[in-house]
Amino acid sequence: MNSCPSTDQIRKTFLDFFASKDHLILPSYSLIPENDPTLLLVGAGMAPLKPYFTGERRPPHPRIATCQKCLRTPDIGQVGYTGRHATFFEMLGNFSFGDYFKEQAIIWSWEFVTEILQLSRERLWISIYREDEESFEIWSREIGIAEERIVRLGDEDNFWEIGPGPCGPCSEIYYDLGPEKGCGKPGCTLGCDCDRYLEVWNLVFTQFCREADGSLTNLKKTGIDTGAGLERLAMAMQGVTSLYEIDLISPIFKHFAAL
Ligand code: ALA
Repeated sequence: MNSCPSTDQIRKTFLDFFASKDHLILPSYSLIPENDPTLLLVGAGMAPLKPYFTGERRPPHPRIATCQKCLRTPDIGQVGYTGRHATFFEMLGNFSFGDYFKEQAIIWSWEFVTEILQLSRERLWISIYREDEESFEIWSREIGIAEERIVRLGDEDNFWEIGPGPCGPCSEIYYDLGPEKGCGKPGCTLGCDCDRYLEVWNLVFTQFCREADGSLTNLKKTGIDTGAGLERLAMAMQGVTSLYEIDLISPIFKHFAAL
């Protein structure tokens, strides 16, 4: 793909890529959840697909990809303080319901960011869930990521859930925006609050269900739930360090500034 694609091109390229990997491409669901009293608004691509992960409903295809409109209320307090948080955003995601799992999800995510988007490998970092040796092996041995670029994080960063329902440990791809965007504090790394390491893609290995009483049970079938922030990928591709500077959003700012 060209070196400075528009956000619209990135969205299309992602959906085309997963269509070529036998995913059914569905349009975004509404921001207002249907039949889910646990959520006020849809905050992740997987939210409308929960019944497919739990087995409550049969998916139209075992592999789906979407670009989902999202509004994430827990992040609202950070909007305006960082370059990477927004109220409304679009989440690119590929999903597997009892079909492929960890290894395939990791391989395709790496292929997409390094071969299709051609993001510089030198700027990419990986996080994994603290005890997830299997992901560590896949990233280091199969993909060839240097061990010091694979950072282990705990529940707060690398166990993904959204209210009751399907959840699991996750592994993330980060893009280094450079030391000049960092806080410079010793120990600044992935998961730091500063703007240096931009999480661009979260791969969730969906294998548990968070029950209403807070306990975790095993899902009958494992699944994959990924989320790549479209606007964040656009930041990396367009060489800007804030969401407000990408091609999709900057004209809105310019318009208001002119008014
Ligand atoms: N559901 C995961 C997230 O939203 C992919 O980060």
